[in-house]
Amino acid sequence: MALSSTLSRLNLIPRPWLPYTVTTLRALKLKPHKPQLLRPMWAPLTLSSFSVSAQIHRPQDDNLIVLGIETSCDDTAAAVVKSSGEILSQVVSSQADLLVRYGGVAPKMAEEAHSQVIDQVVQEALNQANLSEADLSAVAVTIGPGLSLCLRVGVQKARKTAGSFNLPIIGVHHMEAHALVARLMERELQFPFMALLISGGHNLLILAQGLGQYIQLGTSIDDAIGEAYDKTAKWLGLDMRRSGGPAIEELAREGDAESIKFSIPMKQHKDCNFSYAGLKTQVRLAIESRNINAEIPISCASSQDRRSRADIAASFQRVAVLHLEERCERAIEWALKIEPSIKHLVVSGGVASNQYVRARLDQVVKKNSLQLVCPPPSLCTDNGVMVAWTGIEHFRVGRFDPPPPAVESEDFVYDLRPRWPLGEEYAEGRSEARSLRKARIHPSLTSIIQASLQQQH
Ligand code: KG4
Ligand code: ZN
Repeated sequence: MALSSTLSRLNLIPRPWLPYTVTTLRALKLKPHKPQLLRPMWAPLTLSSFSVSAQIHRPQDDNLIVLGIETSCDDTAAAVVKSSGEILSQVVSSQADLLVRYGGVAPKMAEEAHSQVIDQVVQEALNQANLSEADLSAVAVTIGPGLSLCLRVGVQKARKTAGSFNLPIIGVHHMEAHALVARLMERELQFPFMALLISGGHNLLILAQGLGQYIQLGTSIDDAIGEAYDKTAKWLGLDMRRSGGPAIEELAREGDAESIKFSIPMKQHKDCNFSYAGLKTQVRLAIESRNINAEIPISCASSQDRRSRADIAASFQRVAVLHLEERCERAIEWALKIEPSIKHLVVSGGVASNQYVRARLDQVVKKNSLQLVCPPPSLCTDNGVMVAWTGIEHFRVGRFDPPPPAVESEDFVYDLRPRWPLGEEYAEGRSEARSLRKARIHPSLTSIIQASLQQQH
């Protein structure tokens, strides 16, 4: 039987599969009226697959090969990674043209673009690794947070691949993947550690206590820093083909960072949360008052105009990063109170590829006798390696779903988690300024794992 061949390939040892129950779901304050929608990660898909999953056990060997698929935003990415840490392939197809055309991510267009290239991207990842699907141990895929329409494309592809080749499947949290990829690069990096995750959609400061165990020290209450970089770049008429961040970073080198005194966000809030909406508005007003015309690309601007744009870019970047520095200082203080043994601050997510950001945060970290861990830029921006690696970490401890059926029923409801917190909020860090819309938020990854651990004991 095909399943047994998969099991033997994984060199598995016995371990009972413990499903979530409706009681657990109720404890998490979910209404269990649509079981498929509510199915937490690693729980069986249906009753019939439960009997199969009962035979799936924890893999022990260090020879796992996992395909990672990422489609949560505007990059279609896939990679093949070994549990030894070897990256066998990495493929990213970005929607740069769409970004230029729409000045941001338009979900319907992004979905279409993912659908057009997903098969090719996955095939290319397998080709580069010199492998076929049959050589894989499992498939890992981002299931949230992100744009539903986009997540669906990746999940559909992952389930189709896993179903056809009888492979277990691991649903991955996008932000956890940004943090854990640092453990692939820096094998010394042990829990507990801190992480600052800075991307286009999220800013997070977390204390990582163990795999899947996170305390959220701070988060964005409105726009994330990457969004502020992208909008500033767009309003300054910069070339958006590589996204706004790199364009601002480059132009800022020519400018005077002290020339415009933007105010640092949330100075009066003594917490670790982030806000970039106000800084965006300050930048927009500065651009308007200097009569900068975004229709004129920077390449065609006069030298005086170029200088004025560079000053705005540099002043924006200085304050945007000062906000990060301030929050990190406080978060380090909080985190060391909870876990005095912390030695590292991981900085990851697209914005972490910025050299100025890295240099400034390195100073903060050194001042506090910690070490900065920053993955290389290609692993900071969205990629399949981080998804495959996070899949490997969870797979090793037995957290995965059994292979989906080879042919999925037409009305199958995918488990997508567009709004999915990573960890539980640090009680002392709760801010009055937090105005998070609570509707349709999934229970955090950490609360799901804690509930499942309690069930096992
Ligand atoms: O993590 P990521 O690739 O995708 C999301 O999960 O959002 O992050 C994308 C964000 C974009 O806003 C992009 O402008 C920003 O990362 N970014 C940068 C740099 N490279 C990418 N921001 C500042 N400086 C950079 N060098
Ligand atoms: Zn990301």
